[in-house]
Amino acid sequence: MGKTIVTGGAGFIGSHTCVEMVEAGLTPVIVDDLRNSEERVLRGLEKIVERTLPIHRIDCGDADSLDKVFEQEKPTSVIHFAADKAVGESVRDPLKYYSNNIGSLFTLLRVMEKHGVKDLVFSSSCTVYGDTDQLPVTETSPTGAAASPYGYTKVVCEQMLRDASAADPLLRVVMLRYFNPVGAHPSGIIGELPIGVPNNLIPFITQAAAGLRDRLTVFGDDYPTRDGSCIRDYIHVVDLAKAHVLALQWIAEQQAPACEVFNLGTGTGNTVLEAVHTFEKENGVKVPFVIGPRRAGDVMAMYADTTKSREVLGWSTKLTLADALRDAWHWQQTIAADKASS
Ligand code: UD1
Repeated sequence: MGKTIVTGGAGFIGSHTCVEMVEAGLTPVIVDDLRNSEERVLRGLEKIVERTLPIHRIDCGDADSLDKVFEQEKPTSVIHFAADKAVGESVRDPLKYYSNNIGSLFTLLRVMEKHGVKDLVFSSSCTVYGDTDQLPVTETSPTGAAASPYGYTKVVCEQMLRDASAADPLLRVVMLRYFNPVGAHPSGIIGELPIGVPNNLIPFITQAAAGLRDRLTVFGDDYPTRDGSCIRDYIHVVDLAKAHVLALQWIAEQQAPACEVFNLGTGTGNTVLEAVHTFEKENGVKVPFVIGPRRAGDVMAMYADTTKSREVLGWSTKLTLADALRDAWHWQQTIAADKASS
């Protein structure tokens, strides 16, 4: 297999995927302007894989710069992670989301077309299923009623890819619908780097446990679930990363045109309170928390049917929520130790 452009390769899921790619003998070429990451992620990544990786510090929505990268690197495939992903921000600034998320995929497809690159793995999200009571969701569950502008950008990007592949039978596309990616690399060398106050649950839990936040607010305990808090399918980022390697290998084996979508979750839902208590038990630390009102835009429950990923990609998760929460805490402690020594 030739080189793979990894847009957003310095991000949370992107960096973990680069590690798994190198370990599987693949050749990632990172395209990332680090707007949502830091140099330390690149240094950490290279430490884990024990080699330097090519990185192009450009905005992947900049067609001329991306064109030059393709010219220079001559890739045969792309994994497109680069996107904005904060649900609340997308409500406040929807045009930023429509412009960045849809614009960058559009630019990428044009550049791929120009250079004859036909294989693409796209980061989608379970957010495309919106609020559903048909659980677990399968890839054929209805989509399109997303709860936020962020969610709609994923709906539109998926449709753009379906239309583009219908018009170009040589295009081979895999769309991966992530559930809730959490955890960190077990080495403690790379992990999630939320900028400012975390929006997502697990980074907030680790920061509250570390004393960086006064307390976690659990958004609602009056949902009709087993303990009243929302249910999500938390998947370890390393399991998620490995699915990208399998997706690339699967695409390369296809003789026919392909445009397939896969759910990437564990298949098990956990409540917010279960996540808090599992974190406390696994790490032996308390998480100060209060119960607050529901958060606008939250769905009550979401978890995956993973039959298709298992049967077609041969993928299944190996790591548990407890593993992810242990690794997330390890990572939080690494950041704290680095800050203390700098
Ligand atoms: C959502 C999307 C997901 C997307 C992600 C991007 C859905 C079902 N999921 O994840 O596809 O990739 O945004 O950010 O649309 N919580 C608290 N207190 C907090 C933070 C979160 O109680 O301080 C709760 C939330 O109410 C939710 C759970 O924790 O029930 C997970 O929240 P979060 O980590 O923000 O992810 P989602 O909103 O599920």
